[in-house]
Amino acid sequence: MKRFVKYGLAAMCSVAVMSTAVAQNAPPTPEQQAQQAVETRQALFKLMNFSFAPLAAMLRNRIQFDAALAQKAAERVEFLAPMISDVFQQDTREFKNLKTQARDGIWGSKAEFDAKTQDMIKAAQALTAAAKTGDRAATLKAAGAVGKACGSCHDSFRNE
Ligand code: HEC
Repeated sequence: MKRFVKYGLAAMCSVAVMSTAVAQNAPPTPEQQAQQAVETRQALFKLMNFSFAPLAAMLRNRIQFDAALAQKAAERVEFLAPMISDVFQQDTREFKNLKTQARDGIWGSKAEFDAKTQDMIKAAQALTAAAKTGDRAATLKAAGAVGKACGSCHDSFRNE
């Protein structure tokens, strides 16, 4: 009897542990997955914005041109740009309660969205090349082109 109580309790405990584990590892619902995808892509853009900020400030004459800072910023933007395609792999159109500015056209007019992403990648590569020369005018011109690539995609694919 004692034995039964002992093993019975142990068994009950392990069932309790297992069900906790199952609850914690429960796969996210499709909507939760979509929300995570939204957060990931927004995080990428926050980081792109943060990386580009010194160049944007130089373009607006808010800070002095600094070749080393410009090159660092350019390299970061160039590194992040190809990730745009990756973070939009998941089509989240069917979920209407997400906090997102992404337009349905990203998936509906995918060729156009991919072209805008390619424009961004090329502009970022050209910016790094220009920044490496240390030439102020060429770097700022290329930074302006990157800013246009950001804006052009937003005009077509991002809601206000
Ligand atoms: C190919 C298209 C595309 C390009 C290029 C692009 N963006 Fe965006 N961006 C988007 C879309 C779409 C969203 C909305 C994402 C969402 O809310 O799900 C967005 C969102 C953002 C956000 C808001 C992020 C947040 O906090 O939710 C910022 C900031 C941003 N972009 C900055 C930039 C900057 C800076 C560049 C250029 C260096 C850039 N983007 C280039 C499509 C683009």
